[in-house]
Amino acid sequence: MSYSTLLIDVADDGIATVTINRPDKLNALNADVISDLDDWFTNAADDSSVRGVLLTGAGDKSFVAGADIARFRDLDGSLGRTFATRGQAVFNRIEQLGKPVIAVVNGFALGGGSELALACHLRVASDTAVFGQPEVNLGILPGYGGTQRLPRLVGLGLATELILTGAMIPAARAYEMGLVNHVFASDELMAGARKLMGKILSKAPIAVSLSLEALRHADQPLEDGLRIEADLFGNACETEDFKEGVEAFLGKRKAEFKGR
Ligand code: COA
Repeated sequence: MSYSTLLIDVADDGIATVTINRPDKLNALNADVISDLDDWFTNAADDSSVRGVLLTGAGDKSFVAGADIARFRDLDGSLGRTFATRGQAVFNRIEQLGKPVIAVVNGFALGGGSELALACHLRVASDTAVFGQPEVNLGILPGYGGTQRLPRLVGLGLATELILTGAMIPAARAYEMGLVNHVFASDELMAGARKLMGKILSKAPIAVSLSLEALRHADQPLEDGLRIEADLFGNACETEDFKEGVEAFLGKRKAEFKGR
């Protein structure tokens, strides 16, 4: 399947690279991009050839410079709600893929671009990347999850400052505040992202997936989160990979996980 706004490459090791491909518009998210992301991530959930996803932007300037502002002229209250709800649903789909997704931020990650990176499980950035939620400059607020995911990641104080000032911050500052996991030189970004994904994919796949599911509930009241964790822990104990992991450790050999 090919897409008008996405470049897709699925390597033999199961790492899919999804590149949002509107470089002339700094990869801004128009309705086609949202629809293509929705479709690809829906299919990827059940595609066993895809084990993990690297999500990036085409060109060397931008990851995603936000929602496509050209669409905003038509928005009224009702269309605005629909616009936000649609984007949120697609970003939730990415977050709930059940396989690890790393945002590979190769430049501007602004507005919806920052929110897209936040919906991924991990974020790595080039040293030229710039993050920000500049929506207040347009008379709106983040609508694709930024007011909810940013404070969960960096804390309410820093998120409030970023959202109220619309400030653009460099990768080094984003790293300091925990917004990105690693910063690489531009020409080492993709290799760094692949290495990180490779490390994750060397682990028991179901354990990785269940960990993602448990972590998704990390903002819930502790008792609820602990209940979910115990349930998922039980699920992991029913897998063949659990038996293999334990036997390999006790037998002083490397585990061979099968994803079962
Ligand atoms: N929506 C639509 N088009 C966008 C866009 C967006 N979010 N961001 C950039 N573009 C387009 C520009 O209009 C321009 O198109 P054109 O060549 O047809 O005129 C092209 O991408 C290149 O952008 P340009 O502004 O010329 O690049 P720059 O290097 O001077 O500035 C930015 C880069 C990122 C600082 C600037 O493009 C910008 O502020 N973009 C909007 C960021 C934003 O507010 N995002 C949140 C939206 S809710």
